[in-house]
Amino acid sequence: MKLAIIGTGYVGLTTGTCFAEVGHTVVCVDNDVRKVDALTGGRVPIYEPELEALVASNVSAGRLSFSTDLPRAVADSDIIFIAVPTPPQEDGSVDLSYIEAVSQEIAVSLRPEYGYRIVVDKSTVPVSTGSKVAQVIRRYAPGDVDVDVVSNPEFLREGSAVNDLLHPDRIVIGADSQRAMDMMKRVYQPFNAPIVEVDVPSAELIKHAANSFLALKISYINAVAAVCEKAGADVTQVARGIGMDKRISPHFLNAGLGYGGSCFPKDVKGFINVSEQLGEPMNILREVEAINEQQVPRLLARIREKLWVLRNKRIAVWGIAFKQNTDDVRESVSVKIIKALCDEGAHVTAYDPKARETGAAALKGYPVTICDDLYECTRGAETLIVATEWREFALANFGKVREMMRLPIIFDGRNILHAENVLHAGFEYHSIGRRSLYPKAQSPQLRDGDNTAR
Ligand code: UGA
Repeated sequence: MKLAIIGTGYVGLTTGTCFAEVGHTVVCVDNDVRKVDALTGGRVPIYEPELEALVASNVSAGRLSFSTDLPRAVADSDIIFIAVPTPPQEDGSVDLSYIEAVSQEIAVSLRPEYGYRIVVDKSTVPVSTGSKVAQVIRRYAPGDVDVDVVSNPEFLREGSAVNDLLHPDRIVIGADSQRAMDMMKRVYQPFNAPIVEVDVPSAELIKHAANSFLALKISYINAVAAVCEKAGADVTQVARGIGMDKRISPHFLNAGLGYGGSCFPKDVKGFINVSEQLGEPMNILREVEAINEQQVPRLLARIREKLWVLRNKRIAVWGIAFKQNTDDVRESVSVKIIKALCDEGAHVTAYDPKARETGAAALKGYPVTICDDLYECTRGAETLIVATEWREFALANFGKVREMMRLPIIFDGRNILHAENVLHAGFEYHSIGRRSLYPKAQSPQLRDGDNTAR
C-alpha cells in the first residue's frame, strides 16, 4: 500500500521505516529541510539499534523516501499517518497545536477526485482528539472529500523500537467505519500480530491507560522498595515472587530511580489532566507521580548520610540517557541527579555510552565533566552512582574502577551490578530496596551513616 507519515520524529521515522520493511511504499514527510536532506542521504538523527541499516536498505530498495512536500504525499498515498509531537504544557494538558496544524494542512491538500483516504492519528493524544481531527478535515477540505479518521496508537519503546514495531504484542486500531478498519488491517497484515479492533475513543484511551499503568507498576515497586529498605527485605526477591503470578507478570517491576523519558512523565500528566476535565480525576496517578519524584531526593539523602557534606566531593555518574540503548536524555533521572549534585557544589563527572552529546546539551551551564571513558569518569571519585541501566556498566572491571576511585562507595540506582563483583573489588554496595553490602575486610565503624537495615 502507499503510505505517508507526517513527522519524522522517533515514532514517525521508525514506524515509516518498518512499514517499508514489510513491503509498503512509504514517504516520510517533515517540514525540516535539513532533516529530510540528512535522512535522504542515509543519516539518521537519533540512535536506535538497527534503524540506520533499515533506513538505508529500504531507501535503496525504493520503498522509503523523505520529503517536505505534504500536498504531494497526500495526493499519492492511500493512508496518511500523523506522527507529530504532542508535548505537555505547564498545566499538564497536552499541546495539540501540531496535530491541529497538520490536520489543516492535510485537509487543504485533499481533493474529491483523489477518492477515499484514511487519516490516522499515531501520536499519543487525549481521548476525543480523533473527532476534533475529523472536524478540522471537514471544515478545511475543499469540497466533499471521502475521508475516515482512525486512531492507531504506537507502543514501541526507545532502544528496542525496531524490534517492538516488527514484533508487536498487539496492534490497536480504532475506527468508526468497517471500510477504514479493513484497510488498516491490510496495512498490518504482514506483522502477523493480534489486532484489537475498537472505536476511536477507546483506542485513544488504551494508549494513555497503558502507559499510565506501566508507570504505576514502576512507582508501586519503588514504594515497595522503600519499605524493603526499612524492613531489611530485598525488593528484587519480592518482585520475583509477585511477578511469577501471571496476573501480575514480572515486567516493569525493576525498582530504581524512577521512570523518565519523553513518554511516561508526559502521558501520566496528560491522563490526569483529561480525566479531570471529564470530571473523573485519576487521583491514583497523582501518587504515581509523587513516588516517582521522591526517588532522586531519597538517593541524595542516602549519599549525604554516607559522605556528609557534598560540597567539593567528587562524584562519578554512570549513565546520562533516560534508559539504556538510547541517546535520549529527555526527562532523564540522571540529568536531574547531576544537576542536583552540581547545585550542592559537588564536582561531578559523567559517562554514557551513547548520550554524551545530548547529555552535554541538556547539562549546558552546569559544571559537569562529561568523559569519553567509563573508567576515566571514576578517577578520584568518592562515590560512583549508576543512574542508567546500560548493560556495559554491569560488565565493567570493578578492580580497575577501585584503583581509579578515592573511596570505595557505589550507589547502584538501577540494581544492575553483580554484588559479588563489586564486593570482591573492595567496594561497599548500596542499591535500591535492598540491604547495603560491605566487603568482608571493612571495619564496622565505617558502616555508620548507612540508613538501611542490617
Ligand atoms: C514507553 C512504553 O514502554 C512504550 O510502550 C510506549 O510506546 C512509549 O513509552 C511511548 O509512549 O512512546 P519508553 O519511554 O521508550 O517506552 O521506555 P520504557 O522502556 O518504557 O522505560 C521508561 C522509563 O521507565 C525508563 O526511565 C526506565 O528506566 C524506567 N523503568 C522501566 C523502570 O524504572 N523500571 C522498570 O521496570 C521499567
